[in-house]
Formats: sequence, structure tokens, C-alpha cells
Amino acid sequence: MILKPADWVRMDFLAVFLFLIGISSVGSVNRHDFKTCDQSAFCKKHRAITENTGYQLLSNTAVKYSSSEFRAQIQNSQNKLDLRIFGIEDSTWRIQIDEPEGALRKRYVPELALNGIPKATNFKSVEIESDKTTITAGDGKQKMIIQYSPFVINVYNVFGDLVLQVNRDGKLKFEEFRKKEEGKEYPEGFWEETFKSNTDTKPHGSSDVGADISFIGYRHAFGLPEHADAFSLRTTKGTTDPFRLFNLDVFEYELHNTMALYVSIPYIVAHNANSTTGMLWLNSAETWVDTSSSESSKSLFAKVGSFLSSSGDSIPHYDAHFMSESGLVDIFVFTGPTPQDVQRQNAKLTGTTPLPPLFALAYHQCRWNYNDEKDVAEVNANFDKYDIPMDVIWLDIEHTDGKKYFTWDPNRFGTAKDMINNVASTGRKMVTIIDPHIKKDDNYYVYKNAKDKGLFVKRADGVTDYEGHCWPGASEYLDFYHPETRSYWKSLFSFDSYQQSTKDLFTWNDMNEPSVFSGPEITMHRDSIHYGGIEHREVHNMYGMMYTSASFDGLMARTDGQDRPFILSRAGFVGTQRTAAIWTGDNAAQWGHLEITPPMTLSLSIAGVPFIGSDVGGFFGNPDEQLLVRWYEAGAFIPFFRAHAHIDTRRREPWLFSEATRLQIRDAIRRRYALLPYWYTLFYEHTQDGSPPMRPIWYEFPKEEKLYAEHNAFMLGNAILVRPVLTADTYSVSIDLPQGAKWYDWETGAAKPSGTIYADAKLGSIPVYQRGGTIVPTWQRIRRASSLMKDDPYTLFVALDENGSASGEVYADDGTTHEYQKGQYLVTKFQYKPEKSNKFVFIGEPSEGGKYPTKNWIERIEVRGVKQVPQHIEIIRASDPTEKLEFTYDRDLQKLVIRKPAVSTGQSFQINLQF
Ligand code: NOJ
Repeated sequence: MILKPADWVRMDFLAVFLFLIGISSVGSVNRHDFKTCDQSAFCKKHRAITENTGYQLLSNTAVKYSSSEFRAQIQNSQNKLDLRIFGIEDSTWRIQIDEPEGALRKRYVPELALNGIPKATNFKSVEIESDKTTITAGDGKQKMIIQYSPFVINVYNVFGDLVLQVNRDGKLKFEEFRKKEEGKEYPEGFWEETFKSNTDTKPHGSSDVGADISFIGYRHAFGLPEHADAFSLRTTKGTTDPFRLFNLDVFEYELHNTMALYVSIPYIVAHNANSTTGMLWLNSAETWVDTSSSESSKSLFAKVGSFLSSSGDSIPHYDAHFMSESGLVDIFVFTGPTPQDVQRQNAKLTGTTPLPPLFALAYHQCRWNYNDEKDVAEVNANFDKYDIPMDVIWLDIEHTDGKKYFTWDPNRFGTAKDMINNVASTGRKMVTIIDPHIKKDDNYYVYKNAKDKGLFVKRADGVTDYEGHCWPGASEYLDFYHPETRSYWKSLFSFDSYQQSTKDLFTWNDMNEPSVFSGPEITMHRDSIHYGGIEHREVHNMYGMMYTSASFDGLMARTDGQDRPFILSRAGFVGTQRTAAIWTGDNAAQWGHLEITPPMTLSLSIAGVPFIGSDVGGFFGNPDEQLLVRWYEAGAFIPFFRAHAHIDTRRREPWLFSEATRLQIRDAIRRRYALLPYWYTLFYEHTQDGSPPMRPIWYEFPKEEKLYAEHNAFMLGNAILVRPVLTADTYSVSIDLPQGAKWYDWETGAAKPSGTIYADAKLGSIPVYQRGGTIVPTWQRIRRASSLMKDDPYTLFVALDENGSASGEVYADDGTTHEYQKGQYLVTKFQYKPEKSNKFVFIGEPSEGGKYPTKNWIERIEVRGVKQVPQHIEIIRASDPTEKLEFTYDRDLQKLVIRKPAVSTGQSFQINLQF
């Protein structure tokens, strides 16, 4: 059904009314607005499969292969399908199942989500037998066995262990495009489907696909963001609705459930003490994933399994039944075998987050809304008055002229450029919101131009523009699959086009699921049409990603590629990380929402999206002072650190509370600024190998089984373990410090035993530990903004391991431009180690290749875990004579402080410590 204008008006009032009454209170989600699996024809159908669907590989017809591609056909009583298997670089496989040639319609493959074309690797051997084919790739250790009947694909890792099976449970199902035949019976919802008052037309019939994927040997699996749920994925089968992946604007989302949210990344990583295996289901249509963690008798796997060290008669396995409304069965398997390998393999395929500008890693101040230029100036000044560092002031939708993005409210932001320049003169930046719905108003240039050029998404008729309601009222939605939309959108960010914008203004892309207040499930009708005849249902989950990537191109182009863009997005998909940071949307000022922040951000992080955070303080409602302080304390240790609040909440800038609260918030933010060199280095390291700055404990301690499900504590890089206080009236917490490492209290440097400890955590403090063997760079001269600190001297924290050694590095560049890509950067590696029984050395070595003329130097080195007082410390530098260094030693804390080595991180040096 296509809604008539009269319907729009009615629905608009209803939607806006409901929205507005909900806004002023913190209530709960209106579940009825969103489908359950039972209300989704394809989910219901796939979930109901109990018998093997009976696919067999046809061994007698063409089984073909080339150097890196294997082709065959599989068949059951319903249809015949093409199977293609590709060897991909770095121990990765791609398995595709599609309709054979001659299909009525080409199925959509979201290749744009990938970081270019996947790099093939040659097969090492292909052995075709009567009942199976064995393929090896890479150095021959990467192995796959395709069993013909029943059709099952077995994937092995380099240890020779069976780690993943496709179609083990025989749930493979594939609905081909068909022509409707009169008189023929079709499954429920096959040609159209109605949910509430909306009918979805399916002119090509249903094209849903599904397959089961089992991670063999694994009890724990992670990923499938975004859900407000535990980090270790639960069992949904037989207990609750499957995890739903369908980008939605869920008003007042509920915690601890599997309902869809704003981001969909169909990616799972499973981990056990021996290995890690990842898997991406590359599909941009609505997807549900039914999961279960169980055990089966070893005998069930006897034919195909080899298991490194499993004892007992049974094998644990984590099963995930993926069901998508359209698209292909397109599976990438990352065979690890370590967590780091899997993360890198996924990053090679889907990309990494480019190095953010330094300010983006600092503290952001937002609310809906800062009212006018005077308000902005006052907020800016108050951060200085109260000596609280802050880098960015954000403007929400009210800054525009009637919700027309790229414009300014003439009364309140008439001299926006002066405002931005004033903020910039204090070393800070600004961000404005730019949403994808375009106000339907012929006097609005963006609307008029896009309309004239035909750049909007079309209704199901493929001709008339799709209309929906959002903040501005009647709106149209740009079609980011259209190449001309992309180039037009890009041009809108140029300084000529975006009036009053400057290079200090960055972008917030919100409502990009897309949110359509008048649409089914508050989003776009699935039968609307994109460029090239693509149905919205085929690409829904990647709309937001296509949008942010076009904005990214715009921010790049406006300075001719000189400055680094910064974009925050609410919606996301595979590959979003290449252009945007993500925040967890409209949470609430409740303890539960603070508590869910680490698992939600860890899930995104492990799925390849590293720049993530939640609204500090909670979006809806008014946090009490304790909750607010705890949120700042936690947020300071989460990659994207921004306070934000709903328009109806009370103002909550830090100085509006008691002095104690203000000072505690100030301390929390200052902790963040002290660690900026470490954050920056972690984001640099991420660009090199995909390693996530925020990571689960198991990523660093893969054998600590009892910590696999841990999500209250997490690691930043390999060095810092954080356990924020996430519950009310909690002043001490128990923490499991992983075995196999020495630990030190981050603030005091006191040694801590591994195992369970109880930490004091009075309000104003947060339990943070440094792992022995690491070196963490910090800035201790906290100033008003990161731009004023970037050349500051470093204080290094060196935490010794069992052997009295430690290593680490610091990355530096200009913090803003892309000059680093031309060599204008510096990585300085540090090492502390014993040289003789009574001598230790601390070595600093700038990397080859980097040539950034750094102004940073080392002003202090604190060494933790030093067993005795040194007799003499001296520094040898390339340029200057050897010099004796002053130091202090704290016998109780076993802490040595080397004062003023005064050496640039741009030169090699060695410090000798004589004991
Ligand atoms: C929804 C976003 O999630 C929220 O952060 C923002 O303040 C409002 N839209 C208004 O733009």
C-alpha cells in the first residue's frame, strides 16, 4: 500500500503526538511498534525449520575450480543453487550461495561495505572425491572439507581443528525470485505482508535466505551489534526472539533483550582457550539470528572433526541460524587462530577507522540544544572558568533554520561563523547535526536541487518521490546509492556551499536508519526504490553507512583532503568504521543504561567498529549527581567521550552541580586528557592491524576461561584494565585481575596480586590497573583543550613484569591533517630491560620512516615494580654528553621516578640504571 497524502498527515500527527508525550518522561519502549519474529513472515518460516532441508552437492555435474575459486551446484526438492567458494588472503574463506544463472533478478550483494575487492589467495590443493572435496589454501594449513550429502561445509584452522560448519543443522533455505502463478499456493506473506497499518508489497515475491553456522569447540560467542544485551551472546533458541538486525530508531529502548537497535553488524566471533574464529554474514537486508550454546557427543563429529585438546565425550558448539529477508548467503570465515588474527582478518576485509583528529578523542560537550550563540559562548567560557578541559561544542537540530540542514537559525545563530571562530580561538572545535531527511520545501536549496536532479528515494512505483515525516515535518530522503546524490551531497560541505562553516566545524549524522516517524516500524517502507531499481528491503541496514560515507567524502573534499574528517553516526553497518564513530543512541539517565554501556561498546569494538561511546549522563531523564559522576568516570575510559541530553532535561553542565560533583567530573575528564597520548597511539595501532583500542579481557588473556563473559571490566590496549563502577551506592568492587601478569594500581603504582581483589571505589575514583610489562605515555600538564597539549612533554608509566622488563610506544603527528600519510609522523618505541645483574636500561628509539619534527620530550619516567633503589642513573643521547639523572625511590611502593630526562622522543637515547 502506498500512503496517500491525507494518510501522511494523520500519521504524522499521531507519530509526533506519541513522540512528544513520550519525550518528557523516561518510559519504556513501545514494543508494539516493532515486529517480533512471529510477525515477520520470513523469520517465522525459517525459524520453524526442524528437518534437514535436504541439500546435496551434485557431484556428477560441473564441479569446477580455478586457482582461487571452487564452483559446484547444490540441490534439494525445492531448487538448485550455485555454490562458490573463494580463498581470501590471510586465512579467510568466502562461501557464496546464489541462484543459478537465469534468475529473474540479480540479488543485491553489499560489496560497498567491504574495503575494496577481497584479495584472493591461491588454493594449494583441491582434491575431488566421490563424497567430498577437500580444499587447502595459503600455506596448505588452511583447510575446508565440503561434504556432499547431506551438504555440509567444514572449516579447519591452522591447528587442524574443525572450527566452523555451515549447514550442520540442515537449515539452509533459499527462496528464489518468482513470477506469481495464478491459482498456486504460496507461503504466508509471500507476495505482500501487512504490519499494523502498513502493507509491504513484494513485486518479486519473497527472496529470503537462511543458513545455520556452528562454531565448533566454542561455548562463547560475541558480536552481532547492536543490542542492549550482555557481551557474551545468549541462547535465543527456545527462550526468546532471535537477535534482530534491522536498523531502527527505537524510542526508549529496553535493556537485556534482543530487539533491533540502530546498528546492524552480522558478525560473530567465537573464542576458546585454544583458538578464535570469526564469521561475517554479508547481507544488508533485515536479518534475524537464532542462537544456542550447547554440547554434542564427539561421535557426531567423528567423521570430520579433529580437536586439539578437548577432553571428555562431548564438544561444545555455538550455533547461529542466520535468516535474511533478501540477498545472498555470503559468508566470510576468519580462521584466526588468535583473537588478534581474527581482528586483523576482519579489518583487512571491512577496513579500519582512519586515524581520528586528536580532538575527536578528547571530551565532547553536547546537548539538545545549546540555544544560541550567547549560550555557546557561555558554555565555552565556563569550561575555562572552572578549569575543565573540553574540546568540542555540539549543536543539535535547533540550530538550523526550521530543521533545514546546512542552514542556521537567523535569530539565534545569525553570526555562526564568528561563533565558530571564537570557539576555535580557544583551541576548540564545533559540530553541527546534519540528518538525511530533507525538508519538503521548494525554498530550501537542498530540497529544490535534489528534487530537480531526481536524487530522492522513490516510492514502490519507482517514479514518485518517497515522502515521510521527520523533524522538519514532510520530508524526502536522499538516495545515497545514486552516484549523483553522492557527488551532490559531497559538494554541500564545501565552504562556499555550507554558509558560515569553517574547517573547525565537523559533522553529526543522526536519524540515518533512516528514521521515518510515519513509516512502518518508524523507518522507510521496504518496497521503496533506490537507484538502479534496488528495493529498500535489500539495502536497509546499510543506508546509514552509505550516508556517512558520502558525508565523509564531503568533509575530505572541503579541504582538498588536507584535514581529517570527523563524523558521528547513529546507524551503522559493516564498514561503517571507515567513515564514522558510533554512539549507542537514546539511552536513559538510569543505572542500567550506564551498566549496559561496556557490553554494548565491547560488542561493537570486537565487530570492527572501534570508535564508540554512549551519551554520558544518559539522554532521557535527569541523572542524580552520583550517576552523573560515575558515568563521567566510566566514559573517560571509553573511546568516544561525549555528554549529551534530551531537550526536555534539566541543564547539566558540570558547574551546575555541587562543588564536590563538579570537581569529580573535572577529575574524570582530566584523567581522559592525561591518557590522550595513549589513546592516540591505540588508534594509530588500530590503523595498522585492526586491533581495537577498547577490548575484552579475553583478547589479551585468551586462556582465562572464567573471564570470557566478563563485561564490567575491559582493557584499553594491552596495558590498562578498567573496572568502572556501574551500580548505585557502590564504593568497593571486586575485580578479577587476570593471571599470568603482574598488576599495578594505575593511580598509586602499588602492586596488586592477580586473582580476585576488592578495590576501594569511593565516588571520585575509578579502579584502573596497569599490566606489568607495559609502558603507557601520558600528558600531565592538563590544559583547556587537546590542541594546546599536543606538543607537551610526556610522563611515561613503566610497569615491570616478572623479569623486570616492559615495552611500549607512543605515536605523534600534527593531530589534524593527513600529512602523516606522507611520513609526517613519529612512532617512538620504548623498552625497559635488565642488561646485567645490577644494571637495567631504558631505551627510546624513534621508528625508521617517520619524520615528524616532534616537540614532545620526556619529562618524567615512573617505573613500577623496581625492587631496590638504584645507585646511579644516567642518560646517553645521540646529540648531548652523557648526563646524570635525578631520581626518587619509594621503597614501600617499589616505585622509581626518574626526573627530567629531558630528551626528545624524536631522538634515540638510552638510560642506564645502575643498582
Ligand atoms: C535523536 C538522537 O539520538 C539524539 O541524540 C538527538 O538529540 C535527537 N535525535 C535530536 O536531534
